[in-house]
Amino acid sequence: MNVDKIQKVAVIGAGLMGHGIAQELAQGGYEVGLNDVTDEALEKAIVRIRDNYAMLEREGLLSQGKGEKAIGLVQTSVDIGVAIDGADLVIEAVVEDLALKLDIFGKLDAWCEPQTILATNSSSYMPSKIAVVTDRPEKVVGMHYFNPPFLMPLVEIIKSDQTSDQTAQVAYDLMVKIGKSPVMVQKEIPGFIGNRIQAAVWREILWLVEEGIATPQDIDTVVKTGLGRRLAVAGPFELTDLTSLAMKQAIMEELLPSLASGQKVPVILKEKVEEGELGIRSGKGFYEWTPESGEDLRTRVAKALIEIGKWDQ
Ligand SMILES: NC(=O)c1ccc[n+]([C@@H]2O[C@H](COP(=O)([O-])OP(=O)(O)OC[C@H]3O[C@@H](n4cnc5c(N)ncnc54)[C@H](O)[C@@H]3O)[C@@H](O)[C@H]2O)c1
Repeated sequence: MNVDKIQKVAVIGAGLMGHGIAQELAQGGYEVGLNDVTDEALEKAIVRIRDNYAMLEREGLLSQGKGEKAIGLVQTSVDIGVAIDGADLVIEAVVEDLALKLDIFGKLDAWCEPQTILATNSSSYMPSKIAVVTDRPEKVVGMHYFNPPFLMPLVEIIKSDQTSDQTAQVAYDLMVKIGKSPVMVQKEIPGFIGNRIQAAVWREILWLVEEGIATPQDIDTVVKTGLGRRLAVAGPFELTDLTSLAMKQAIMEELLPSLASGQKVPVILKEKVEEGELGIRSGKGFYEWTPESGEDLRTRVAKALIEIGKWDQ
């Protein structure tokens, strides 16, 4: 199998991630079989895809009419057998429930052609954990997208120690072909790369708040107006090379002993979850939210991601 053999991709689960994954594959010219458990979920996915294409066309990131043509490549079905029929690659994006994922991978293994690659978009389950129910662990790979998939270029391709190089390469090459920025994670590890970095940041910022060193507002200001602004343009290694490795060494020697190093979820986060303060969805998280202010933030983030997307063009 090489990437040129791929003609049809099936996407299982048409929610937040699945609809965006399907959208980009269709935009790349691939036939897509999109599956979910209800017709309503599939109809909602098509509405979302159409809206996203319209936004990309308005912003000049997609030629006029290309979206409608791409939608013609997406075939929806509540019957998983129909969605995967003839698929060269299946990307699973159902809810984060291991038992459900195992059930689906068992079916995929039994029903797909022997050469079909089976991928999971799971954020927390490593491909080896899911491949156990299949007779093709060498063809099981992680393809971890970031939300919203159609505005975030990164896809982490995760190899278990049984995933073949060829399988991982096909997944990687396909992402290059449709304009994503894939990165190969050579050995599976919890959180892969992106979420490990994010978790290290969360541990530190929650500790800073717990210790009364800064408020969440101040920390957001530091990140938005300081380090985050640079990181949108250049990576941490590039930025280090731009300054001095000796300076970085001196900073690390001074700081490392005082950095947060706890292995338990910080109390401040646990308390908020226990009190039902879950963020925009519950009206309160680290800030107070109304439906309007929550929507404003979503729109602000999407607009900025679109502008940054134009840099890549
Ligand atoms: N949300 C994120 O930011 C994000 C980022 C990267 C990866 N992921 C991963 O993507 C996966 C999906 O997350 P999401 O945020 O899109 O969730 P979601 O709840 O928005 O969508 C999941 C979809 O799966 C469908 N589903 C449930 N059971 C099914 C079944 N048996 N067959 C087919 N479809 C079924 C649901 O109806 C729903 O539409 C998870 O594994 C998650 O870890 C999420």
